[in-house]
Amino acid sequence: MKHLLLLFLSLSLYAESTFITDMEYAAQLYKNPRGIGCHNCHGDFGKGKLIAKYKHKGIKRELRGPQIDDLPFDVFYEALSKGQKGMPRYYLTKKEVQALFLFLHQDN
Ligand code: HEC
Repeated sequence: MKHLLLLFLSLSLYAESTFITDMEYAAQLYKNPRGIGCHNCHGDFGKGKLIAKYKHKGIKRELRGPQIDDLPFDVFYEALSKGQKGMPRYYLTKKEVQALFLFLHQDN
């Protein structure tokens, strides 16, 4: 009986820690996509962000992560598959890209 109770307890604890909602998963992936988080360059919700200001040959320049919450899915997917200048290459699965897309297109 004691064993059964223990088993039940650990099962429910396990369930609690593994069953996160799709949106929780997507939010985590956006900040930790097996590499540097997207939010560092595209902002917390993909609205774009200033990454750095620098001078090149005496001319002031800015490096910006563009807004990415307004792209159609195929453009978003393409951009991540072929890689972008100034952005790490991630090798995400289609499911992962879909989760990120979902995260950026939630209503809030
Ligand atoms: C180190 C900074 C950096 C990080 C981290 C980063 N990006 Fe980017 N990303 C950029 C820059 C800079 C561009 C613009 C490239 C260009 O204009 O050629 C870009 C472009 C893009 C584009 C194409 C935008 C368009 O209008 O075509 C998408 C989509 C994108 N990033 C998604 C992501 C996602 C999703 C992540 C996380 C998995 C991510 N990026 C992480 C810097 C970053």
